[in-house]
Amino acid sequence: MTKHKIALIPGDGIGTDVTDATMKVLHAVAATAGFTLETTTFPWSCAHYQETGAMMPEDGIETLRAFDAIYLGAVGWPDTVPDAVSLHGLLLPIRKAFDQYANIRPHRLLPGVEGPLKSGAFDILCIRENTEGEYAGAGGRVHQGRDNEVAVETSIFTRKGVERILRFGFEQARARRGHLTSVTKSNAQKYSMVFWDEMTRILAPEYPDVTVSHMHIDAMAARMVMAPDTLDVVVASNLFGDILTDLGAAIQGGLGFAASANICPDRSGPSMFEPVHGSAPDIAGRGIANPVAAIWSGAMMLHHLGESTAAETVERALAATTGRGIGVRPGSHGTDEITDAVISAVKG
Ligand code: NAD
Ligand code: IPM
Ligand code: MN
Repeated sequence: MTKHKIALIPGDGIGTDVTDATMKVLHAVAATAGFTLETTTFPWSCAHYQETGAMMPEDGIETLRAFDAIYLGAVGWPDTVPDAVSLHGLLLPIRKAFDQYANIRPHRLLPGVEGPLKSGAFDILCIRENTEGEYAGAGGRVHQGRDNEVAVETSIFTRKGVERILRFGFEQARARRGHLTSVTKSNAQKYSMVFWDEMTRILAPEYPDVTVSHMHIDAMAARMVMAPDTLDVVVASNLFGDILTDLGAAIQGGLGFAASANICPDRSGPSMFEPVHGSAPDIAGRGIANPVAAIWSGAMMLHHLGESTAAETVERALAATTGRGIGVRPGSHGTDEITDAVISAVKG
């Protein structure tokens, strides 16, 4: 029987609830599909930081390298550990260390879910650059606390980084409805974003079957709300992709519905799967987190592991669950109720 080795990092807040929910569903589908998921849980979180002074041990990355995939719930507990410490101590280094440069975030309305828009058509795929750009971590502060203080945060866009994420976007568009929208802000950012636009134009002739649009991030935010049916695959830089995907989540019914995969396309390291949302301190510990985004991210992990039949079973089970009105509105059903309904649908 095929065995997949999964590193689990439940993290903080609702991260642990949605990870538990996801693993229940994935073990259930594995049992019916004839493979096993051998999971190892790592307690790396803000609580771990408070106990040990680090979000993960020094050899954390090397430990993760041995796994076929990483599944992460959510990280961050700003009341006790500053976000810049917790996220730069765990989530962001994992994305970078394993060159998970393509962050894939599907946004579509599941059956029965009423998004905030009048138009029912909403099915886009966001491809977010995931290892450089505005998240490069280059910068510093001088004269801290003084009137002449200056803080600099430099975005870094390399030819290699821009080219590979654009090619990834073109390939995804080719496999869908054949349209790619490249999002920049080249009217204001005259180096990095002009360069990104140029790279898009250089590569486009290699993908004659894909039509390309260029949009500025501000216009794109409006377009996603006003005319989402004109969009198919959207490719954007790290920060712009981050913001657009919370907007995408809102349009698909809330943060509890948006899934995400941090992919290392050449498989030189493990890829990581996690919902788009965070640890949601405002609802943590109440058993009301929506596990759909997390379970959907689990289905993306199964696809990546080559278990596509099982992945599709999970996706159908999610659609069947929301189609029955379960989990479609915030607070209408608890985490366990939604999870149990998905498991029943998986078992058919
Ligand atoms: P958040 O996504 O945690 O929450 C935003 C809002 O969405 C909250 O009102 C929350 O209750 C709601 N929400 C989120 N997920 C939900 C779900 N599954 N079901 C129902 N409602 C849900 O964003 P935030 O409040 O800005 O961040 C909280 C912490 O999480 C911070 O420390 C932040 O840095 C961190 N964070 C981590 C990740 C990650 O680990 N991937 C992602 C985003 C934020
Ligand atoms: C996400 C999150 C992270 C990001 C944060 C927590 C650093 O918002 O995965 O969307 O910005 O990438
Ligand atoms: Mn985000």
